[in-house]
Amino acid sequence: MAELFTAEELEEVERLKSLYPQPQAALLPVLWMVQRKYGWISLENIRAVAELLRLPYAHVLGVVRFYTMFHTEPVGRYHIQVCTNVSCMLRGGERVLEYLAHKLGIAPKERTPDGLFSLEEVECMGACGGAPMIAVNEDYYENITLEQIDTLLEQLRRRAQEESRFADGASNGNLTP
Ligand code: FES
Repeated sequence: MAELFTAEELEEVERLKSLYPQPQAALLPVLWMVQRKYGWISLENIRAVAELLRLPYAHVLGVVRFYTMFHTEPVGRYHIQVCTNVSCMLRGGERVLEYLAHKLGIAPKERTPDGLFSLEEVECMGACGGAPMIAVNEDYYENITLEQIDTLLEQLRRRAQEESRFADGASNGNLTP
């Protein structure tokens, strides 16, 4: 089994464990570390976290599956979550979801072929006052309109292009984007 964390990351796990009376309480931040590193949390990594924190595998699996913020499948670089719970539904959340599916050419729980976007329908994300709302990775967009979605997708595509140009330049020894 591949190592879950580097030595440096394991030090961070120890630091997190030391913050709580029960070291197992560090589960959520440790799962965040896994997701930030790998982009999603595989069953193999759930098992590794369970061993690391000396918790039952079923418990860690249950926590990962409970929170929609944790991904149990690979997601796109920009993971778009659309709330269709009551407040958002009454203010057009389902239309927002349909529109995004149409614009991206994918259904909820799918990724675009270029891996740039993935889409997910979710329950209330606690921003009902800004309904309808969507989240892109960890950023919330409230009172979202279809026109704003067009602009947002365009901005995200441009940002991805700029970042990959920058990464290419950096790997060629040229740090100027
Ligand atoms: S109903 Fe959509 S954020 Fe609460």
